[in-house]
Amino acid sequence: MAVTILGIESSCDDTSAAILRDGHLYSNVISGQDVHRNYGGVVPELASRAHQQHIIPVVDQAFQQAGILKEEIDAVAFTQGPGLLGSLMVGSSFAKSFSLSQAIPLIGVNHLQAHILAHFIKDPEKQGRDTPRFPFLCLLVSGGHTQLTVVRDHLDMEIIGETIDDAAGEAFDKCGKIMDLPYPAGPIIDKKAQLGNPHAFEFTRPKIEELNYSFSGLKTAFLYFLRDQVKQDKDFISNNFNDLCASLQYTIIDILMDKLIQAAQQTGIREVGIAGGVSANSGLKDAIHQAAQKHNWKVHIPRFEYTMDNAAMIAMTGYYKYLNEDFSGIDVVPQARFKY
Ligand code: KG4
Ligand code: ZN
Repeated sequence: MAVTILGIESSCDDTSAAILRDGHLYSNVISGQDVHRNYGGVVPELASRAHQQHIIPVVDQAFQQAGILKEEIDAVAFTQGPGLLGSLMVGSSFAKSFSLSQAIPLIGVNHLQAHILAHFIKDPEKQGRDTPRFPFLCLLVSGGHTQLTVVRDHLDMEIIGETIDDAAGEAFDKCGKIMDLPYPAGPIIDKKAQLGNPHAFEFTRPKIEELNYSFSGLKTAFLYFLRDQVKQDKDFISNNFNDLCASLQYTIIDILMDKLIQAAQQTGIREVGIAGGVSANSGLKDAIHQAAQKHNWKVHIPRFEYTMDNAAMIAMTGYYKYLNEDFSGIDVVPQARFKY
């Protein structure tokens, strides 16, 4: 019998609801939050309030678009963590109420695992694109996380490297803030980088042990470099904007790719994927395709809609947990820090 899952995502600043039947996508509604634009980052209190406003209309729309009735849902999956606690509470409370009212299982999902399992969502536009074969190596790059993971099965993953400070998306956003860009700066830097010279400015790479990452030094180097240049030319940033974006992006990608290549060599895995918001970056996608040619990898890049925070990936993870009968009790609590 077909299994139909309602997924709810509310870990950060996107409220999302999705419906999947046997892994096939029926709807995936995402509502962003403009309230954070001028603050240089997500303001937790504003985020929880906006989730509270959006959650019911977003779920309603997901049902309408899917053409599926509440009574047809077999389980509700929600993001249990990691994320902002107040934001997670909105999604988890909604999911609990839905589970109780429909008398169906409740499934708490790890947001990071879900970013990786976005590769397995089946949708009509994805036809012809293979899903990764196990084991596969996934570089998860988002606003809050940067991790290298060996994926042995849908729910069997091992983190083999991670950032010791800032995430890659944070490096884009914080350096963007230094240049007075609104939040999130990543997509703007990506666009402008395509018009600039990636070798115009040189920034030092961190020397971090093993397969771990660090991005906070780059942010500080970028800040001091601009502070010195602006002393000599107050219009330095606007005069060199595209080159600054291109050089910064080139450095971030170089740092990411260096450890990804090392991880592939150490593990011998040649099925390689990226996931998370930063995997929408055009430079990163080019770099991974180039590396694939050189190292004979099979590359997996999720569709743009599934790289950002979305509930389709939560429902997908919920589906695999449903098949394992891995359900949560009604007393389950959200976790701001949540390991898998
Ligand atoms: O996965 P995501 O939607 O949310 C988190 O779980 O963090 O990722 C958001 C992050 C932000 O830091 C944003 O600047 C970055 O992804 N991002 C990008 C691009 N699109 C989104 N960074 C670089 N280039 C992009 N095209
Ligand atoms: Zn995310």
